[in-house]
Amino acid sequence: MAIVARLRSLRRDLAAVAATLSGRQAPPPLAAAARTSAPPPASALTPRRLRVARIVRETSDAVSVVLEDPTGAPIQFAPGQFFTLHVRVGDEVLKRAYSASSSALDRERVAVTVKRVHDGRVSRHVVGHLHEGDAIDVLGPSGAFTPVAAREPRLLVLVGGGSGITPLSSIARTLLASEPGTRVALVYGNYALEDVIFKDALDDLASEHAGDPARFRVRHVLQQPPPEWAGGAGLLDGDRLARELDAFGDPDLASAEYFLCGPAPMMAGARAALEARGVAPSRIREERFVSAHAAGGLSAGAASQEVTLRMRDGERRIVVAAGRTVLETALDAGVDMPFSCAVGGCGTCRVRLSAGSVVMDEPNCLSTGERAERYVLACVSRPTSPCTLDVP
Ligand SMILES: Cc1cc2nc3c(=O)[nH]c(=O)nc-3n(C[C@H](O)[C@H](O)[C@H](O)COP(=O)(O)OP(=O)(O)OC[C@H]3O[C@@H](n4cnc5c(N)ncnc54)[C@H](O)[C@@H]3O)c2cc1C
Ligand code: FES
Repeated sequence: MAIVARLRSLRRDLAAVAATLSGRQAPPPLAAAARTSAPPPASALTPRRLRVARIVRETSDAVSVVLEDPTGAPIQFAPGQFFTLHVRVGDEVLKRAYSASSSALDRERVAVTVKRVHDGRVSRHVVGHLHEGDAIDVLGPSGAFTPVAAREPRLLVLVGGGSGITPLSSIARTLLASEPGTRVALVYGNYALEDVIFKDALDDLASEHAGDPARFRVRHVLQQPPPEWAGGAGLLDGDRLARELDAFGDPDLASAEYFLCGPAPMMAGARAALEARGVAPSRIREERFVSAHAAGGLSAGAASQEVTLRMRDGERRIVVAAGRTVLETALDAGVDMPFSCAVGGCGTCRVRLSAGSVVMDEPNCLSTGERAERYVLACVSRPTSPCTLDVP
């Protein structure tokens, strides 16, 4: 069985390499989508219309939405990147970011996997009311949570919780198919077995890439495991992660590249545990689905402040209430501000602070150079005095 799976996997790897070499398929887009200090190009801010080709139920509260371009144009992204869906809910069009969960090597379609959030407006709509054939406007891809291209085989360790599996699934599928010697280890935490997104697909991927050493290994960790459960049990915190890594016993763990995506406490615990094991911080990458402020870690600004937005077509004045962000307030006032992720992760909402002061939720994706040039991110900025912002 293992031999058959390995042969299947080898055949697929060779087919991917051959397709790349023959030019039938673009090389895997693994280079990091590192942001420069240039503003995003206009095309990055213009959504394209895609069609819902298929909806796949993954768990009782998660679906995968497979999107295709009705014109047949390719859909390109790097594994780990996200798209911003413009979803009509009632009379409103709401924008939310969703990571690609499918392989970046398949350019005919992209799948995003959405888990319903309690009281969540868009996720409830997508999971309950989106239909095959629906049209949907999509912005992106965006984000830099993506492995940098490597010539040598390497070890990637993916640590996920709940819906945080989505970018990790894309990274695993893409790299296993495009980097023949690369190994991937996944530690995936959930509450119960029925909450595990992609359970069968991940187990299949593990048997396809079994061997010595295995190219893909997965350890599921459940808070409420069923009887006779052979995986990890308990909350996926730093101690649990350390135990799971010890069980992998891979000699390359210290030099591996780590990708974390899940609830904020899980990521904080994982980072602390990895650093305590001697993993260099530069080898640990994180993707947040909720802003640091929404996750409850930051204090709000103390008072309302007037903000002048200098746009290409004139000035707009808004009053940002205590605790709100510039972006939220501008959008509520009908100002057409550029944005994508809305949690400080992509740089699309970057504006220059020409007067006044703001506090920003941290961490965010602004570089030291951008900060020195007084750029701020409207989506995570709360003014602490009257401000003037130049919007590109
Ligand atoms: C870069 C990026 C990638 C993302 N990828 C995915 C993905 O692949 N799959 C996916 O399901 N989601 C993903 N998200 C989260 C997604 O964008 C939405 O935030 C989420 O679906 C909730 O939107 P909503 O409109 O349903 O909830 P809202 O109506 O916006 O919020 C309802 C309540 O839920 C809270 N909340 C919002 N988001 C979350 C969350 N993720 N977990 C717990 N509570 C939350 C809010 O604080 C609020 O109290 C991603 C977010 C980012 C920034
Ligand atoms: S919208 Fe992505 S950083 Fe602000």
